Amino acid sequence: MITAKDFGADFLWGASISAPQNEGAALEDGRGLSVWDVFSRRVAAIRGGAKPTVASDFYHRYKDDLLLAKALGFSSFRFSISWSRILPAGTGKINQAGIKFYHAVIDECLLLGLTPVVTLYHWDLPQALQKEGGWANHHILKWFARYVKICVQEFSPKVQHWIIINEPFAFTSLGYMTGFHAPGKMSIQSFYLAAHHTALCTAEAARIIRQINSNAIIGSSFSFSETHPHRNQPADLRAADKADLLLNRFFLEPALGMGFPMMDGFPVIEKFHLFNRSWRFQEAMKCDLDFVGFQNYFPVTVRHNPLIPYLGTSEVSAKSRKVPHTLLGWEINAPSCYRMLRRVADYPGVKKIIITEGGCAEKESLLPGKVADPLRINYFQQYLQAVLQAKKEGVAIDGYFVWTLTDNFEWAYGFTARFGLVRVDFDTQLRTIKDSGYWFRNFLGGTGDR
Ligand code: BGC
Repeated sequence: MITAKDFGADFLWGASISAPQNEGAALEDGRGLSVWDVFSRRVAAIRGGAKPTVASDFYHRYKDDLLLAKALGFSSFRFSISWSRILPAGTGKINQAGIKFYHAVIDECLLLGLTPVVTLYHWDLPQALQKEGGWANHHILKWFARYVKICVQEFSPKVQHWIIINEPFAFTSLGYMTGFHAPGKMSIQSFYLAAHHTALCTAEAARIIRQINSNAIIGSSFSFSETHPHRNQPADLRAADKADLLLNRFFLEPALGMGFPMMDGFPVIEKFHLFNRSWRFQEAMKCDLDFVGFQNYFPVTVRHNPLIPYLGTSEVSAKSRKVPHTLLGWEINAPSCYRMLRRVADYPGVKKIIITEGGCAEKESLLPGKVADPLRINYFQQYLQAVLQAKKEGVAIDGYFVWTLTDNFEWAYGFTARFGLVRVDFDTQLRTIKDSGYWFRNFLGGTGDR
């Protein structure tokens, strides 16, 4: 059995959460509404009609949760800042109570010996900015730059590790194209604009952070999913290439100075030619990153499907293919994570990788004094083995962050999909360490006692 020691003494082992999924206190201490507060009011937008208003109450329980992270043996803690807690209207007046809260969280991390790793944007745009078009409005460049500047000036040098944006493809596609996530827009034009602005904002934020704190360790987190054709025939092979372009290359390549990836006869993508044609845009999207935040939850198998507008591609579920999968139907396939790590590391511009999220949702069993989650333990065993293999073969991987410390608000799935090492009873906020939490503690060098 491998243990954390096999990864080397400097490896960062972290637990992660995000503001919109954990903090709650949505209406407290001057915080402005975010797009998720408003989106969750829509009928049938979120499973079970759940809202992120209280979530797992990290705002009031951060000391307990940080202590849990410490007790499980982690050396690092990743959390995100809520833009609308710092700037309730997105721009304009700073909310000092928000600043104070994040100082308190950071100080508590430092006190416990947890390296704080701060995400600047984890999908919770201030609603006031969404009213102006949000990420589809080019003013976002100015709005985001100011927000980033405030955070980095305020929290440096206590915080050295910054993650600029969490999974740009997820929030721009689900939020602006399919409407499955906040703000619930369904427009190819909005996606097109939001994606371009996101790429520009990421690079600009990196420049701002570097300027304020030359010692900062700067990254941004991208999602990756190996893509497979359903059948070995030209139409499905092409569908897999299209999915690969969107899921794996679309935001990483502009950040590496390569411009948006192109593919002839793929209408969504052809629109992006415009941005690539301008050398200035390519330069402006190039991002000076110390590390790529790598997030890989599943590979996908796709087939040609002319009924799907713009993409002409649809997924063939893991369930229908009868392969191992999680509660959300996400295929469990650690070798595909290994191959994606190798592939990302092969880009000449990638200096280092930090796995900024990894984990799975499962239907757990509540037993007396115990939460049994064997699938999750098995998942970590397989995936950590895959990460170690890549590392041993020379891939520069500096850390692994578990998604997530405690159960939380899982976006459109509300509270029905649990990813935590620690179970949260959302009625009482009682925390119970799951078997996977104890497993992780042993893996990180704990005693093995329960
Ligand atoms: C996101 C998390 C989310 C997790 C599981 C990632 O895409 O960054 O916020 O909870 O996946 O869905």
